Amino acid sequence: MKQDIIKQAPIGIFDSGYGGLTILSDIRRVLPQYDYIYLGDNARAPYGTRSFEIVYRFTLEAVQYLFDQGCQLVILACNTASAKALRSIQQKDLPHIDPNRRVLGVIRPTVEALSSITQNGEIGLLGTPGTINSGSYTAEVAKLYPQYNVYGQPCPMWVPLIENNETNNEGAHYFVKKYTDALMSQNENIDTVILGCTHYPLLYPLIRQHLPSQVKLLSQGALVADSLKDYLERHPEMEQRCSQGGSCTYLTTESETKFTEAATRFLNDTITARQIELG
Ligand code: DGL
Repeated sequence: MKQDIIKQAPIGIFDSGYGGLTILSDIRRVLPQYDYIYLGDNARAPYGTRSFEIVYRFTLEAVQYLFDQGCQLVILACNTASAKALRSIQQKDLPHIDPNRRVLGVIRPTVEALSSITQNGEIGLLGTPGTINSGSYTAEVAKLYPQYNVYGQPCPMWVPLIENNETNNEGAHYFVKKYTDALMSQNENIDTVILGCTHYPLLYPLIRQHLPSQVKLLSQGALVADSLKDYLERHPEMEQRCSQGGSCTYLTTESETKFTEAATRFLNDTITARQIELG
């Protein structure tokens, strides 16, 4: 009997820049056996202040590029892209491109985790202007936990600080205090704060320092990694199409030297990147 040969490929991980590396680290910790291709669109970051149409177009170009490399499954390790492009790509583009491939985001797994963390359902959300203004978190929380309240605070200066390695100086302290104070002034009873941007874990120590100590601060990496593990267990047809060599290839749209230096710092590991062009 003729057996279909299953084509296997790495899992694609996409972000506008370095932020998705925080998700990649946790995914590789939980699922070290798979191969990965990380793509950072650093030349066009930040996405957080860009319009819906632009974020959608850039994200689709990146997904298409990863599909062209053979990826069967792509994770948008970026809240802005998940908020502004994921639904359109899933509903409008995938059916034409290839209905068997999948693109998943980071918002749903984050929201799902809330019920085991919050005591009073008063949820703070720190994110890019794009993520906050899209209302995606509020809509997702309303679906799962209609009794919760979400207070969103845009933090437009944080991604530029992180992309430029300016995370531990007076300027960083100033802007972290500015946005955390603005968030807590919306409701002093907020008991759980979501870091709703994959870049923000790189500012975690400062954010922790400026938030009241009783507030729980939620990073997404572990949540997304556990959710991907669960997804692959529930979808053996996709799991079989993910190659298992434990490797990771790093691609960037900016200079590879710059990416290599920064990623090595963020990951605490020496990596080499290759420059590619999108669009
Ligand atoms: N890391 C991204 C996010 O999670 C995007 C940041 C940006 O490019 O503005 O939203």
